[in-house]
Amino acid sequence: MESCPLGLFGWGTVGGGVIDVLARDGALIASRCGLAVHIKAIVTRTPSRVRSQGAGTAVVGTDPRLILEDPAIRIVLLMVGGTIEARDLCLAAIASGKHVVTANKALLAVHGDELFAKAFARGVGIAFEAAVAGGIPVIAALRDGLVANRIEAIYAILNGTCNFILSTMEHEGLGYQEALAQAQRLGYAEADPTMDTDGSDTAHKLALLARIAFNARIPLNRVRIEGIQRIGFLDIRSAHTMGARIKLLAVARQRADGLELRVAPTLVPLDHPLADVHKNYNGIYMVGDAAGPTLLVGQGAGPLPTASAVLADVVDVASGRYQQTARRFTFFQGGSEPTYLGESEEHTGSYARFVVPDRAGILAGITQVLSEHGVSVLSIHQGEPAAGRAMIEIVTHPLRGGAFLSAIEHIDRTGLTMEPTVCLRRL
Ligand code: HSE
Repeated sequence: MESCPLGLFGWGTVGGGVIDVLARDGALIASRCGLAVHIKAIVTRTPSRVRSQGAGTAVVGTDPRLILEDPAIRIVLLMVGGTIEARDLCLAAIASGKHVVTANKALLAVHGDELFAKAFARGVGIAFEAAVAGGIPVIAALRDGLVANRIEAIYAILNGTCNFILSTMEHEGLGYQEALAQAQRLGYAEADPTMDTDGSDTAHKLALLARIAFNARIPLNRVRIEGIQRIGFLDIRSAHTMGARIKLLAVARQRADGLELRVAPTLVPLDHPLADVHKNYNGIYMVGDAAGPTLLVGQGAGPLPTASAVLADVVDVASGRYQQTARRFTFFQGGSEPTYLGESEEHTGSYARFVVPDRAGILAGITQVLSEHGVSVLSIHQGEPAAGRAMIEIVTHPLRGGAFLSAIEHIDRTGLTMEPTVCLRRL
């Protein structure tokens, strides 16, 4: 049996999850692939916490050399958050000739070009299955299983916190703050959930998926990012009226004229499979030219699902498969620079909710402006007016984002509406 000692940087939920999975399934992994995986050393700022929680036979300390200078450790688990210390440790591990397995999506979305290039030059791999959608093996599916496909589009729910909040708002009729508080009580949301709710965590994950799918560099500033903080119960109800459900959707779509990249609250029609991804679950719907659509659904966070992905990478690296992949796949070495399409060039169906005075001519005024901007309406709904105000909701046929936004801006500017119009994209 080959011994596979690991060095773990950072002690948090993932490290604990890896220890738990090895305790329950280490023998199974050994019997499946002939590797005795164990954590040999842990480097953390809080060794006492590790010792009190129990880390088996691992040596625990604060000095990175405990791992970096141990020749028996060939694989480093980099489970440190943020991008500064994590980058330093990643570079140090690469310089020491060690492979890196990480769940840190921000690190790779921000510094991936540099880190992948350095790892490639040093002949080591950076494996990151755990960085995107936790327990769902989406990186392997996209990189290997769908390698023969031209990927046309990825539509994905990649943040369990946001999906839990939106599902809870819908199912329990709650407002945003109440649903967030419930997510925090149940441990689905961090005490500071900003990176989840503002869409940046989803954007980091989308950047990694798009990098593989389109063999391209994906600078984060080319991803349009909008969070869910302004979504209220009224939006959730409106979505239902229009036969849809709101999801924080990551979209990467290859068009003839460039690459559309965005993260935004989106109306997902109720008959689309992503509409049925509820609570803290993630879902990734990928469209390949040969395979057609493929949907993966599962748990995108949590100690055990994330540990499942980390250990899959460990086996891949320890068996030498990952290094072959890293040598062969060009996205590790840089990738192309496609044309990135901005918001005005996005091409989608859109939704608008107008709050208007309840009097003759308003609807005609709105449809007049829409038609002047080439906006074709797919469906329209007006609720019962109350206190002299009415709500008119429309869904459009797919059109250029620029045309839609300028029509809405024109409608609001000409005084047809009583409040700024709420707009959402539709899948
Ligand atoms: N906080 C993320 C989520 C998991 O809620 O999905 C880590 O990226």
